[in-house]
Amino acid sequence: MEYPVRVTDYTTQRGHAATVSAISTLTAASTPTSTAAVEATSGLNAPAGITDEVTPSTVSGSRPEEKDETARRATDISRRIWPVHSTLEAAAESELVSVVGDKAVRSDISLRVLQQLYLPDQDKSYRTINHENNTLSFPLAPSFPAVKALPSHERKRILVTGGAGFVGSHLVDRLMLMGHEVIVLDNFFTGSKRNVQHWMGHPHFELIRHDVVDPFMIEVDQIYHLACPASPPHYQYNPIKTVKTSVMGTINMLGLAKRTKARFLLTSTSEVYGDPEEHPQKETYWGHVNPIGPRACYDEGKRVAETLTYSYMHQDEVDVRVARIFNTFGPRMNENDGRVVSNFIMQALRGDELTIYGDGQQTRSFQYIHDLVDGLILLMNKNYKEPVNLGNPEEYTIREFAEIIRGEINSDVEIMSLPPTEDDPQRRRPDITRAQRHLGWAPKFSVHQGIRETVQYFKNNKREELDSITS
Ligand SMILES: NC(=O)c1ccc[n+]([C@@H]2O[C@H](COP(=O)([O-])OP(=O)(O)OC[C@H]3O[C@@H](n4cnc5c(N)ncnc54)[C@H](O)[C@@H]3O)[C@@H](O)[C@H]2O)c1
Repeated sequence: MEYPVRVTDYTTQRGHAATVSAISTLTAASTPTSTAAVEATSGLNAPAGITDEVTPSTVSGSRPEEKDETARRATDISRRIWPVHSTLEAAAESELVSVVGDKAVRSDISLRVLQQLYLPDQDKSYRTINHENNTLSFPLAPSFPAVKALPSHERKRILVTGGAGFVGSHLVDRLMLMGHEVIVLDNFFTGSKRNVQHWMGHPHFELIRHDVVDPFMIEVDQIYHLACPASPPHYQYNPIKTVKTSVMGTINMLGLAKRTKARFLLTSTSEVYGDPEEHPQKETYWGHVNPIGPRACYDEGKRVAETLTYSYMHQDEVDVRVARIFNTFGPRMNENDGRVVSNFIMQALRGDELTIYGDGQQTRSFQYIHDLVDGLILLMNKNYKEPVNLGNPEEYTIREFAEIIRGEINSDVEIMSLPPTEDDPQRRRPDITRAQRHLGWAPKFSVHQGIRETVQYFKNNKREELDSITS
């Protein structure tokens, strides 16, 4: 059995040589060195012993000595899957991605600057103060983060629908730091003002409470259309509303793009491929979706949103882009949204069992948020109109992923299998050839670096709750 270990570092093409040289030094023994080899994502043979499966019966309800052994193996697996990025202590700073974005579209920026927005020093954070007399204070930020000074003819007015959500808020951070004017349109169904509060009052920033199901008029140059609940519990909460958001919301935003001649980008999803019969999934694959299943409101909603987008392009010459996003994770994910990464992290932090639906052999690929934002900005600013997959092609079974999170956070927690969910896709992995060829894009972050930041975010933001559980 082979475990995928990403040895590619596409940052070479973008001039971040420090990261590349560090990774190549550390992986020198097994990493291909020619340019061609470096451009391919390799599957390396796992070291002996890594193929040991941890079955539900050996994990749940095991005796203490078995549990210790299982915990040791979990940590071991985590370390072997990432021989380079094994632990925070072992990982030298130079191994990690330290610059995100792309010089080609002037989105490059130090990761440290972005981190200050979602992992701020505690004394500079916007944490709500809970007073003893049952009142709350919301102290203002000491100052806004510095943004690039763009000449007015280069500064764009950019609308981000769903900009208060997980992906949207990171996109907003980047567009603001790039020096643009950003208008966020959000009904706060799953998003939160807290995700963008560090920009409130900034002269380049506006936040508008609005439901995209209703028409909206504003003069803008670009529209990133993200508004739509993305996690199964949220989009299944009111399936009719989800379809309306996808269909009517997209019609309204495409109508706005048509009237203002703005470029329009739709955030579609890998769910348009359904439970795929083709693997990995290329953009040319038409998908395998159950039109009346519990996921249909989202999957079919996005498929119609894509149809609308290309209909406006052909019929009304709207300048469009379509990103098909695969599983993405990172800080500001909603911890209750039922997605696998936030579920596992919160369960491990609370010391609860990690819950797997089905046998855990279904696969997913996990992309870190900054890689996605890089891809979205590149897609918007390059001249390519066909749908583009944005995802990390490293593929893990859900069980492997649970082991990894357990190894990272809390080796004592157990893994429990629950009955499978209906229409759960069995395999997911993007073919990113198109993104590489037309955008010069490929993910840079290891899952490990992403998980580490995400865990830190959840710890910071759930500190009181976690303290009360663990004390
Ligand atoms: N995160 C992922 O892994 C992923 C994967 C594939 C596609 N996507 C797509 O990316 C986009 C953002 O996803 P996310 O993970 O940030 O989800 P999210 O739920 O965190 O963000 C969605 C945002 O849209 C807002 N919204 C929902 N319905 C709205 C409406 N009718 N009017 C106005 N605002 C509305 C929400 O309040 C929220 O702020 C979605 O379109 C989603 O389909 C995300």
